Amino acid sequence: MARRTKIYEGKAKTLFEGPEPGTIVQYFKDDATAFNAEKKDVIEGKGVLNNMLSEYFMTGLTNIGVPNHFIKRLNMREQLVKACEIIPLEVIVRNYAAGSMSKRLGIEEGTMLPRPIVEYCYKDDALGDPLVSEEHIAAFGWASQQDMDDILSLALRVNDFLSGVMYGVGIKLVDFKIEIGRVYEGDFQRLIVADEISPDSCRLWDIETGQKLDKDVFRRDLGSLTDAYSEVAKRLGVMPKGATPMKPTLIN
Ligand SMILES: Nc1ncnc2c1ncn2[C@@H]1O[C@H](COP(=O)(O)OP(=O)(O)O)[C@@H](O)[C@H]1O
Ligand SMILES: [Mg+2]
Repeated sequence: MARRTKIYEGKAKTLFEGPEPGTIVQYFKDDATAFNAEKKDVIEGKGVLNNMLSEYFMTGLTNIGVPNHFIKRLNMREQLVKACEIIPLEVIVRNYAAGSMSKRLGIEEGTMLPRPIVEYCYKDDALGDPLVSEEHIAAFGWASQQDMDDILSLALRVNDFLSGVMYGVGIKLVDFKIEIGRVYEGDFQRLIVADEISPDSCRLWDIETGQKLDKDVFRRDLGSLTDAYSEVAKRLGVMPKGATPMKPTLIN
């Protein structure tokens, strides 16, 4: 058996060369990191859940015509995706204040924002992914004005889709982060949603109880991360076989 070529080992995923040019295999690890990798742990089952959940969200986006990198899931931990050139920005959409925005602006966590607010962070671990403005993005050439228009439109479409899906299962989409990639198709290039959409990259609160069902459970030591992610997967009907059962307190 030939060994696969590893392209990149990140904090949550490893990328391998795919079977055909222009494809990549994403392997979802159980590693959890927070605060720019200052806090680390291995959370058994997290990779399986994120692989299933990212598949679920990306497939939903495909079904409503939002272009994304997902091709197919290969097994419990891996999915085949279109290789793209990642734009070096973390695109954040916020519906309610939380996390760094609450800290920065002194707005109480959970306050509903007057409208969805889109923020951009420069993707650079060494710098701690600093917040940047469109001025920086244009001046340093990270994305063109056309790209920024497309990125905003993709981000808002993902927000509407994800908010609706979550609302349907009693979960409030507080905020989320996506990454955008560039793909070339003949003479054309276009931007697509890449990386992953999972409870690692969203803030999800139970509508009734306010219980956190996302990576804040790990960041803030609020209990079992697998239980929280399993609850999201269960509500969406994507609970993988053999996943860790939930604590009784999480069952409605
Ligand atoms: N379709 C894609 N093509 C190329 N690179 C991708 C694609 N989707 C995600 N990536 C990149 O793969 C890496 C995923 O691994 P991850 O563990 O999340 O890394 P990081 O520690 O940099 O966040 C990220 O750097 C992300 O930008
Ligand atoms: Mg990442």
